[in-house]
Amino acid sequence: MSNKAWGGRFSEQPEDWVDEFNASIHFDKTLIQYDVQGSIAHAKMLAKQDIITDEDCQQIINGLTTILNDYEQGNLSFDVSLEDIHLNIEHELIKRIGDAGGRLHTGRSRNDQVTTDMHLYTKEEVTQIIELVNELQQTIVNIAEQHVNTIMPGYTHLQRAQPISFAHHILTYYWMLDRDKSRFQDSLKRIDISPLGAAALSGTTYPIDRHETQSLLNFGSVYENSIDAVSDRDYIVETLHNISLTMIHLSRFAEEIIFWSSAEANFVTLSDAFSTGSSIMPQKKNPDMAELIRGKVGRTTGNLMSILMTLKGLPLAYNKDMQEDKEGLFDAVHTIKGSLRIFAGMIDTMTVNVDHLQQTVYNDFSNATELADYLVNKGVPFRSAHEIVGKIVLWSIQHNVYLLDVPLEEYQKAHKRIDSDIYDYLKPENCVSRRISYGSTGQSAVEHQLSVIKQHLKTN
Ligand code: ARG
Repeated sequence: MSNKAWGGRFSEQPEDWVDEFNASIHFDKTLIQYDVQGSIAHAKMLAKQDIITDEDCQQIINGLTTILNDYEQGNLSFDVSLEDIHLNIEHELIKRIGDAGGRLHTGRSRNDQVTTDMHLYTKEEVTQIIELVNELQQTIVNIAEQHVNTIMPGYTHLQRAQPISFAHHILTYYWMLDRDKSRFQDSLKRIDISPLGAAALSGTTYPIDRHETQSLLNFGSVYENSIDAVSDRDYIVETLHNISLTMIHLSRFAEEIIFWSSAEANFVTLSDAFSTGSSIMPQKKNPDMAELIRGKVGRTTGNLMSILMTLKGLPLAYNKDMQEDKEGLFDAVHTIKGSLRIFAGMIDTMTVNVDHLQQTVYNDFSNATELADYLVNKGVPFRSAHEIVGKIVLWSIQHNVYLLDVPLEEYQKAHKRIDSDIYDYLKPENCVSRRISYGSTGQSAVEHQLSVIKQHLKTN
């Protein structure tokens, strides 16, 4: 006899390799706790509505609870020919409690069951991701607080541009992550919806109470349309998008860390605990964690593309294609949680090479804009000032010096209004502290930014 839940209509059995291809149990077992939770809520509602007896309901609850316990103890194995987590559990339940187990699926279909599980899973994981984003933001803030006065070269085109505060630079990632966090938070209202009771697609003839299961499962609302309830995978696309974008942000930060920790930059030194060595080159210390995070973005973005393509042109309502919504999401969730944790640990333990950073900004032309501003303050139009400074920079390059080493007579040849106060004016730390515009890199603006952030972190 067939062990299939749908065996009645069939006279032939699929071969093992067909079962294997059809099955999702090797990955949807991840959903077991949510499947049990959803089934318990459904059974309670059925009993409350007098669709099943209280005794059957109690047996179902006990049966499901022991099944979950056995699974957690490693005492439950699954059968590929039973296809997925839903049918494996139901089969096991009927084996353990008989007819009462066979009543559980009344007024329900795997179509609403699977997406109920996925909603519960996504809600829980997104909540955890938000928490991890928050912890990484907190780590960034802690580092920033120690480096308001640490100056470093700011870049555009990866060419030295203007000196900036190290705190200001890394707080940029605080704000990127803040947008990520708010996207995740906003998505929760579209994740936190109960599809349970939509059944196969059209609802059911039993007098079920969808709002009862909604409240038992702690969902914020219910789908208003049963077909939408079983067909919607937008919440998975959205979560994968939010994960992908956060990972892209981490990859930008990772790339900077990789560059900063190179001998060429030497801006930071990563802790040994977050680095690895080479099997051949004894001197090597590699920023593997940062590289891996940068690399994993390939997979998370791929998972987003994959679900988008799976859904393209898919007719209503449930189609088996939708079974493909799981592995990419599970993988992306696992990847981002690991990446956020590693990132926080990696930057929390890195040393910022303050003196070297300071030295670096003394050995470049990133104070050239200041020289132009100096002339503007003396009444020279900015365009002419730009031209004059360009010529001084060229002269300096030809004479192998930086702006602080150009003799006063050369400055005065370039423009008579340049005075000896220019040397103090052009010091990189003065260039930074003169930045007074709102949101700028000047110390007091950065201090203000930090106070906004602290207020913000408290309320978010
Ligand atoms: N394993 C299936 C999935 O993940 C469960 C739903 C199956 N529904 C069905 N009508 N075949 O999508």
